[in-house]
Amino acid sequence: MMDWNPEHYLQFRSERTQPSIDLISRIEFDNPSLILDIGCGPGNSTRVLAERWPQSHVIGLDNSETMIEKAKNDYPEMEWILAEAATYEPERKADILFSNAAIQWMDHHDTLLQKFYHLLSDNGLLAVQVPLFRDMPLGKCIDRIARDTRWKYQLEDVSTLLTIHNYSFYYDILSSLFNSTEVWETHYMHVLDSHLSILEMIRSTGLKPYLSRLADDIPKKKFEQEVLKSIEEDYPIQKNGKVIFPFHRLFFIARK
Ligand SMILES: C[S@@+](CC[C@H](N)C(=O)[O-])C[C@H]1O[C@@H](n2cnc3c(N)ncnc32)[C@H](O)[C@@H]1O
Repeated sequence: MMDWNPEHYLQFRSERTQPSIDLISRIEFDNPSLILDIGCGPGNSTRVLAERWPQSHVIGLDNSETMIEKAKNDYPEMEWILAEAATYEPERKADILFSNAAIQWMDHHDTLLQKFYHLLSDNGLLAVQVPLFRDMPLGKCIDRIARDTRWKYQLEDVSTLLTIHNYSFYYDILSSLFNSTEVWETHYMHVLDSHLSILEMIRSTGLKPYLSRLADDIPKKKFEQEVLKSIEEDYPIQKNGKVIFPFHRLFFIARK
């Protein structure tokens, strides 16, 4: 899959960071020594962690070179690690393991969550947000459009690149490992400028694996046009010209 484009990703910095701010506001932890942000991207959420716990050592980890470069460039005073989350072995255990909008890009969530458990200190806490992309009309539309005969063969297995389970799946795994587990969901109402803005917002995330497969410019453009058409049908223009993009997200906090 093509690497991430941090500039595009950060065009929607506020919409993408708000879930981190909300998740962090629900974490009760005095003086964590080490905080690990898994799939930190360009560091937007890692920065919020560092502001919330200024005395703690905060490390951002990501397997994308472009994302880590951007994070290093914007926040040179912080520690950034280019690594694969599933195989990363830290020098010491973390008190908080945080991950915003990242684990959906990793597979085998049962073993991944066990791995996260083992990266935590004795009273460590795991805090995660997962976008429920497939529950949203747009996620369903993209899957439907991808089955069109024009690009069906190129896109056949793309939906398997995103791993997203429901609250029940995560609760069962977490409650078998941790002493306490909370799960909740939030519908964000992102107010965007136009239908095109919705396309722009998902182009650098949920749409990325599809566009990566469509190498040629013309199929890529046609695919995007189809997605834009379905966005225009599903999301009304408000009286002031804005378009609301409801975005469904799942959160969990688990404590040893
Ligand atoms: C949607 S971005 C989220 C960025 C950031 N956490 C935020 O709050 O906006 C997902 C990030 O997860 C990273 N990622 C995906 N798979 C990964 C893996 N297996 N190991 C480490 N990072 C991964 C991607 O490179 C990307 O930067």
